[in-house]
Order: sequence, then structure tokens, then C-alpha cells
Amino acid sequence: MTRLIIDCDTGTDDAVAIMAAVTHPDLDLLAVTTVNGNVPLSNTTENSLRVLDHLGSTVPVYAGSPRPMVRADFPVPRDVLNGDKPQFQIPYLDLPPSVTPVREQGAVAFLIDYYMDDANTDTVLVATGPLTNVALALAAEPRLAQRIPQLVLMGGARGWGNVTAVAEFNIWVDPEAAESVLSAGIRDVVMVPLDATHSAQVSLEDCDAFDAIGTPAATASASIIRHRIVNYPDAADAVRLTAPVHDAICVAFLTNPEVLEEFDSYPVRVETAGTHTVGETVIDMRPWSEEPRNARVALRANAQVFVKFLSDAFSS
Ligand code: BDR
Ligand code: CA
Repeated sequence: MTRLIIDCDTGTDDAVAIMAAVTHPDLDLLAVTTVNGNVPLSNTTENSLRVLDHLGSTVPVYAGSPRPMVRADFPVPRDVLNGDKPQFQIPYLDLPPSVTPVREQGAVAFLIDYYMDDANTDTVLVATGPLTNVALALAAEPRLAQRIPQLVLMGGARGWGNVTAVAEFNIWVDPEAAESVLSAGIRDVVMVPLDATHSAQVSLEDCDAFDAIGTPAATASASIIRHRIVNYPDAADAVRLTAPVHDAICVAFLTNPEVLEEFDSYPVRVETAGTHTVGETVIDMRPWSEEPRNARVALRANAQVFVKFLSDAFSS
């Protein structure tokens, strides 16, 4: 069993990631920590609780940071950003309101307490939202860098973006946090950028197959992924049959590492100052670079392995 914590901004694809982590027989989800991102913190927290309640799971949820680490807000506020595509990011998932309360302890304090306990230094941290909570925890307790055995994060892209021409959402929301996490000295950072997630999309046919499995995780995920396919921002004049389910690929990697392809170590930095490039992940592919290779970056992912992982999880 691989033990993990998910730090997330639920979020439709975060929801699928949580459901797969709860249901997969080889995974043991210990906690969910929430962060401001796709929707405000109170929504990401409520959505995470809804997902866990829907599965009858008792995994605890800790609420984290309501805003980026240094900035007062995103580089462009959420309302302006989502102005022309409000239906893609729904404020609340279409699941019954939660009945389980969020834990009193905050996510940052929880992460510090958790990893400072010698019994827990085997637990993988999966980050599928902006890296604010992780950065704040590392800033308050730098020894965490030696105690988190592996950080698997969804974020970044090589030379393109989904918020700006060169920035991916999770990194762009809190570029200072991302830069500090990448330079904190965590021993194994696995980066799953848009290049990987867009190369392993989930189809409407896959959703039909999940529906046929019939478990709560399978049918809820099918409905969420269909929503993603139909409302994907570039779908305006094309009939889309697939969509990326970015965050769940990070969880798939824990049981099926072969899901990540073209996977190698590179020096990775985050642009925090550029007028047109804030939030860009600068992946140094020069073979002669002397910069520290601080992340393993996957430039492709395997859709078959990914969909099989989801089916395995949802069938359990
Ligand atoms: C990432 O941004 C969020 O909108 C998704 O949940 C995913 O984590 C993709 O850029
Ligand atoms: Ca996310």
C-alpha cells in the first residue's frame, strides 16, 4: 500500500483524483488538505468533503490558505479570468452538501505535524492545486524538505500554457510558492505538466465504461469527466470527445509509474517577475546545464494506462 496525502483545489479533476485515491486497493489516502485555486478556499474545502462523504470515506479534510503566499490575489483576479467561461469551473460539485465537518487544525500546521512524526516519513505528498500550502509549510519548517519522501505535483508546461501563452494555472496562481517549493531541496519532485496531461485524455466512451462499473466513484467520475469534455474552454467550435483529467494522473503514477513517459530529470525554475511570462515553468533541457536537476518532468503520459488505473480504482 502506498500512503499519500492530497493537497488540492477541488475542482473537477481534483475530485476524480481523490476518488481514485480512496478507492484504489493499493492506495491509502491519509488526509486531504485544501487550497485556494479553481474556486475559493471555502468551495474547495466543501467540494473535497462532498466527494469523501459521497464515497462514505472518513479521510480527514484540513483547510489551508485562502490566498497566494506573497500576492494578495492571482496575477489576474479569478472573476476576470473566468469571465467568458463561467460554466467550466462550477462553484460546487453536483453532489449532496457535506455532512462531515472540516478539521479545526489548518492544513499548514497539519502538514508540519504530520511529517515531523517519524511514523509518517513514508507518505507521498500529491499536490494538485497551487503550491501555497506546501510552500508555507516548508517556510515554517524547512526540515520538511528532508522528511517528505516524494512530492508529485500537477503543474507547469514546457513553453506553453492554459492561462497565459506560457503559464499553467496551478503555477501561475502562486508563482512564488511554486518557485520556493521547487528550490526547497525535496529529494524527489515529480512534475506532471500540461504536456503529459493533454497527451492522455479521457473520452466519452471511457465515461460510458465507468458508468457501467456502477460504483459511486465510477458514476460520479463519469459525470464529472463528461462535464469537463463538454465545457472544455477550447470546445467552442468543435465537438470534443475527450478532455484532460490532469490531477488524477498524479495519483495514477503512484500505482502505475509507467503512466508517465518521456520522463527525465531537469533543472526547473518558475518565472515570478516577467510582464508576459509570470508563472512560466522554465525547464532547462540543455544537456550541459550545471543548474541542479530539481525535478523529474514527464513530457508525455499514457492514456491506456491512465484509464485502466481509473477503472481498477472504481471497480474496487
Ligand atoms: C490544473 O489547474 C486546475 O484548473 C486543475 O484542477 C488542474 O490542477 C490544470 O492546469
Ligand atoms: Ca487542481
